[in-house]
Amino acid sequence: MEAGAAVLNESVIYLPQVGSTNAWAKENIAQFGPVGAVYTTDQTAGRGRLGRGWVDAPGKGLYYTAVIKTDLAQPSTLPLFASLAVCDALKQRYGIDCQIKWPNDLLLNGKKIVGILCEVAPDGHSLVVGIGINLAQPQEYFDMAGLPHGTSLLLQGVNVDLDTDPEWLAQYMTDFGFDRALYTYEEQGLAPYREQYKAQCVNLGRRVTYDGGAGIAKDIDEEGRLVVHDESGDTHVFTGEVSVKGIYGAV
Ligand code: BTN
Repeated sequence: MEAGAAVLNESVIYLPQVGSTNAWAKENIAQFGPVGAVYTTDQTAGRGRLGRGWVDAPGKGLYYTAVIKTDLAQPSTLPLFASLAVCDALKQRYGIDCQIKWPNDLLLNGKKIVGILCEVAPDGHSLVVGIGINLAQPQEYFDMAGLPHGTSLLLQGVNVDLDTDPEWLAQYMTDFGFDRALYTYEEQGLAPYREQYKAQCVNLGRRVTYDGGAGIAKDIDEEGRLVVHDESGDTHVFTGEVSVKGIYGAV
């Protein structure tokens, strides 16, 4: 373990600063049990989906990675399950209801508050679930970073306590979002969570554009794919960027 790292309990590791919690978790995968986590509030080389970066806001964001080593019946749906785990943690801590933009952006008042990046560890089996939560960045941070569709909980009027919330959220997501919830999810996959996900999914009923087409998003199928309907029928979208009319300024 790095100098300065403090162990909260056996399964949640805090690092004062790290390049990327996902990268750290993958490099140190052997020291995690079946379900564990690492987090920081200062991530200097964060990574986002589709090869993008994830900008650091030292002390103002939560950068967290859960490690899952148990066998999952439906690992391809982990991004969707993870988004519900984060929604639940934010609801418990702040009483807020986030929406989900498929597959796993969390929105508050139509702006992005959370990004999630799921990856396979080098052992080819363990999974890492990287979660970035915008806690208290000011508007200038998003302006300077060129993120017009991003926001923080603080900017949306949420009462954030930077002294206690990162640890609380990291512990809650590990214990309740992943460890305990996995007993259902690891065997049954998305099925028990699908209706809840659909209820929170902002894509459904809206016009969406994906790599290769456009149409009305009408369902989330059993595999967690976005079902898009157009005049030639249904397309089950499983990867890539999907823009949603009315969200992030899309038309
Ligand atoms: C996205 O592009 O929306 C996903 C962003 C995921 C960022 C988180 S922050 C914690 C973890 N460590 C990383 O390097 N990335 C993820």
